[in-house]
Amino acid sequence: MRKTYDPHAPIAVLDSGVGGIGVLREVKRQLPNEQLLYFGDSANAPYGERPREALLVLIESHAARLLSRCKALVLACNTATAVAAAELRARYPHTPIIGMEPALKPALSVCPHPHILVLATETTLREAKFEALAARFASEAHILPLPAPGLVRLVEAGLGDSAKADAYLRQILAPLGDARPDAVVLGCTHFPFAARAIRRVLGTEIPVFDGATGTARELARQLSTRGLRTPATAPGRVMLTTSAPDRLPLYRLFWKKTATNIVASAQKPLP
Ligand code: DGL
Repeated sequence: MRKTYDPHAPIAVLDSGVGGIGVLREVKRQLPNEQLLYFGDSANAPYGERPREALLVLIESHAARLLSRCKALVLACNTATAVAAAELRARYPHTPIIGMEPALKPALSVCPHPHILVLATETTLREAKFEALAARFASEAHILPLPAPGLVRLVEAGLGDSAKADAYLRQILAPLGDARPDAVVLGCTHFPFAARAIRRVLGTEIPVFDGATGTARELARQLSTRGLRTPATAPGRVMLTTSAPDRLPLYRLFWKKTATNIVASAQKPLP
């Protein structure tokens, strides 16, 4: 297995589809001179609806291909992280493999003992990784995990900010009744692209948290400690690729959208 330790090599950013583009944007913001190679596996999305073993094989094959030319891998997908991060780190011990996890910690700061709604895929919420995370904060917050698989499909179809997204959210949130959480954690990288719909349904003031900033920061830290930061002094290229080439126009659109700050950033209400 070839490994690339070349600081000039690109960084791979992998997701099941368009969701990871929000993470890609944050990586670009924090590491502007790095070359970035995005791969969205829209042909196989949603990952959250795939059996664990099949998903692991799929992610491992994408990782092997990407790491044959990239110096680091960002799993810009909570589901892929929950299922494959440990295996990939064992297989590539000298390569930075950065994952995502629901940003529970920053959400704790909204008020004492907050009610935190965690929206994610079923797989993410079922995996031991999330159980351990929720257990860590169980004494400080009331955590309400809620799978929202339909939201992944809506975002993949470019409908994250639509009446259909509002209707879907109303339906899955109905069991909460009038109770409103104090904060929402987006535990799926597709969901920041539905942040406006989430705020329309839950209230425009509700603080929304995602994990992109922390993931990009951890990537920067690991590249630095391993001497893998690019020596380039000019902005690096961003390459958008996908297993479903007909979706590429949507990928480009999402990349442009993130530039105008459609993606919710932690804490800041959207304009
Ligand atoms: N974007 C992914 C995540 O963060 C997965 C969505 C899916 O394909 O189900 O979990």
